[in-house]
Amino acid sequence: MRLLDKHAIFEKNSIILVIGILVTVSIGGLIEIAPLFYLENTIEKVEGMRPYTPLELAGRNIYVREGCYVCHSQMIRATRDEVERYGHYSLAAESMYDHPFQWGSKRNGPDLARVGNKYSDEWHRAHLTKPSSVVPETIMPGYPFLAENKLDFSQISGDIRANQIVGVPYTEEQIINASADLRAQLDEFSDDYDAFIERYPSAQARDFDGNPSEITEMDALIAYLQMLGTLVDFSLYDEQENNR
Ligand code: HEC
Repeated sequence: MRLLDKHAIFEKNSIILVIGILVTVSIGGLIEIAPLFYLENTIEKVEGMRPYTPLELAGRNIYVREGCYVCHSQMIRATRDEVERYGHYSLAAESMYDHPFQWGSKRNGPDLARVGNKYSDEWHRAHLTKPSSVVPETIMPGYPFLAENKLDFSQISGDIRANQIVGVPYTEEQIINASADLRAQLDEFSDDYDAFIERYPSAQARDFDGNPSEITEMDALIAYLQMLGTLVDFSLYDEQENNR
């Protein structure tokens, strides 16, 4: 009974009540948040995730430059309609190397988190050049200049270095060989190809824009799109989940 009597202080004085609430809520908050600072990694490690290849990274920069994220998200929610339409819901690990992340907040067009390998390179070429040539009712604007613009990758080493500084596990070797790796991904018969694929396992290598004589922004953007959502092998991942 004595303790209940004391509770009257809180009920009669709103300031003391507010302070009481703040103290209680911050204890709860601390218990939830503090451990996150001490855990080695709050993102579950998932097999298959690797940093972007130099060509994919260059393509990603074009994706950001052109504001594709204004109309497209890259974040499949764990709801039935999304999973049936787009595939397995997005895992935190799948955007762990994204700086900045491309989850987006608006979908004028479909989610692109798993668009990789859904269409051929030719389809992407036609679609990016003139979207209505393959989807007549589309409202997506065309980007025909991408096929004409030569890709400027003079800064690609520095770009990879910057990603390394913010925590992407690029090696010194990957930084030094960035330009050679970028070229090797466009030509699987080049001398540098073997070293490239060792540095970036499972990377898709070919000429992406249908014009082997030039390295264009179209090459980079399609290489990026064709990789999206393809790194994690979900048949393995779901097996692990079920075995837990
Ligand atoms: C004004 C909004 C808008 C912008 C900006 C935009 N898109 Fe789209 N996008 C759409 C719409 C709408 C569709 C669905 C119809 C279609 O396929 O064209 C679409 C479809 C797509 C698809 C096919 C997706 C699928 O699963 O069928 C890809 C790939 C794509 N866009 C890539 C891009 C890229 C890359 C950029 C930036 C260079 C971009 N989009 C910019 C609206 C946009």
